[in-house]
Amino acid sequence: MQIQNFSTQDFSLWDRFYRAHFFNSLSGFKSLTLVGTLNLQGQPNLALFSNIVHLGADPALVGFINRPLAAASHTLSNLEATGSFTCNLVPAGLEEKAHQTSAKYASDQDEFDAVGLQHQWEEGIQAPFVKESFVKYALEWVETIPIRHNGTFLVIGQVVKVLVPQNLVGKDGFINLTKAATMTSLGIDGYSLPGPLSRYAYAKPDRPVEILRL
Ligand SMILES: Cc1cc2nc3c(=O)[nH]c(=O)nc-3n(C[C@H](O)[C@H](O)[C@H](O)COP(=O)(O)O)c2cc1C
Repeated sequence: MQIQNFSTQDFSLWDRFYRAHFFNSLSGFKSLTLVGTLNLQGQPNLALFSNIVHLGADPALVGFINRPLAAASHTLSNLEATGSFTCNLVPAGLEEKAHQTSAKYASDQDEFDAVGLQHQWEEGIQAPFVKESFVKYALEWVETIPIRHNGTFLVIGQVVKVLVPQNLVGKDGFINLTKAATMTSLGIDGYSLPGPLSRYAYAKPDRPVEILRL
């Protein structure tokens, strides 16, 4: 196999779209997630995010990277104003509609309606869920950490409610997302379904690898 060897000088010569595709895909497959919010006037907003990261289980914290405000501001300003947002994992078959939510719709345009997805309202949660998503959770906004180096933000929320089909949650709490056929994304426009799943017991230096039954 011929290996290409790129370095900083090469990156600066690339066209900006080539560079964006290259580096967006370099860090690998991500969880494809629709983030639902509401503004203070009660206008719903839905946008696609993939740079989602688990930050801790106690308290249950999830973060995502928001692009600079000039590029994407509705989700961030809504969740900071109301303190509430939902994350809705995108099941196979919904990726086309999910992709379309990433278009720059005006702030008074509801992306749920624009792409043909349904709002789901849950008692005590201000932000809308996506009805068509099987695995979804609501968060209370905790903090936004500006990343000064490039104008992006790490947005952190605490999980306050989870909606998940019972048959996906194992005895030990593991959520088998392959059964739910949740999509991953690669780069800014590639979508893929994960392949077969394996699980291994907690690794210890003095113990051989043990395969867990699913
Ligand atoms: C596959 C895919 C993944 C994306 N992931 C992110 C992301 O992690 N962070 C981000 O800020 N924008 C991401 N975007 C772009 C947003 O969806 C887009 O900027 C959207 O218009 C933001 O909407 P808002 O202004 O309503 O928040 C992604 C787009 C696509 C197609």
